[in-house]
Amino acid sequence: MAALGTENVISVHHWNDTLFSFRTTRDPSLRFENGHFVMIGLPVEGKPLLRAYSIVSANHEEHLEFLSIKVPNGPLTSRLKHLKVGDPVYVSRKPVGTLVMHDLNPGKYLYLFGTGTGLAPFMSIIRDPDTYENFEKVILVHCVREVSELAYHDYLTQELPNHEFLSEIIGDKLIYYPTVTREPFRNQGRITTLIESGQLANDLGLPQLNPDTDRVMLCGSPAMLRDLTAMLDDNGFVASPQQGEPGDYVIERAFVEQ
Ligand code: A2P
Repeated sequence: MAALGTENVISVHHWNDTLFSFRTTRDPSLRFENGHFVMIGLPVEGKPLLRAYSIVSANHEEHLEFLSIKVPNGPLTSRLKHLKVGDPVYVSRKPVGTLVMHDLNPGKYLYLFGTGTGLAPFMSIIRDPDTYENFEKVILVHCVREVSELAYHDYLTQELPNHEFLSEIIGDKLIYYPTVTREPFRNQGRITTLIESGQLANDLGLPQLNPDTDRVMLCGSPAMLRDLTAMLDDNGFVASPQQGEPGDYVIERAFVEQ
């Protein structure tokens, strides 16, 4: 079987000037774990140009969905941003990744910390019924610079709580905490600052982060990952040493075209 399949765009949504998402068809034989990424791309000068993208959609859905920034002059994103319904897109047939539930030790509260497009894999994970079997509370924290970058905000606050079958499974277990750093919003500040100051725990009405009870998944820029892992390590959290070996937290870089 070829390593690269071709899917077709079903819909495109532009969140703002720099951020968009799109859905494609899904080959029914493509199996993945929620939290995984695939390589996607377009033909450029006769060759596939591919980048890693976390899958936004859950593995029980019939389509695939991806979230992308539009990098000025980015070799792939400056082309992807013009995608229209019906256009073909390459999708690799081998989903992989480290943000998987089975690499976390058992725990009580699951924290999903994402910045920018680092939200993408968590959209899949929060729609996985198993997530709610494994944890009492699932706290999705999404930190962005500007309010318009809060992709899926309305979906998370309005649609998902009324979803035909997930709403029952999720109940009051999912807490969505969006925060913005460069303009006024109801929650403000970086994730690191919100943890350090105690503001996050206070706003959530939950205890401070604690390795005895809490598990964490991180997805964001290298700087965010560096600072947050340092903070977790200082607090006694143990990273999953490698895929297949569970820890108190797992990390993945949010894929951003350079
Ligand atoms: P800030 O506006 O203070 O830089 P980016 O678009 O650069 O990836 O940033 C996405 C979000 O992540 C922004 O709100 C940004 O805050 C925040 N951020 C950037 N670097 C860090 C870091 N080292 N630790 C925590 N949050 C960060």
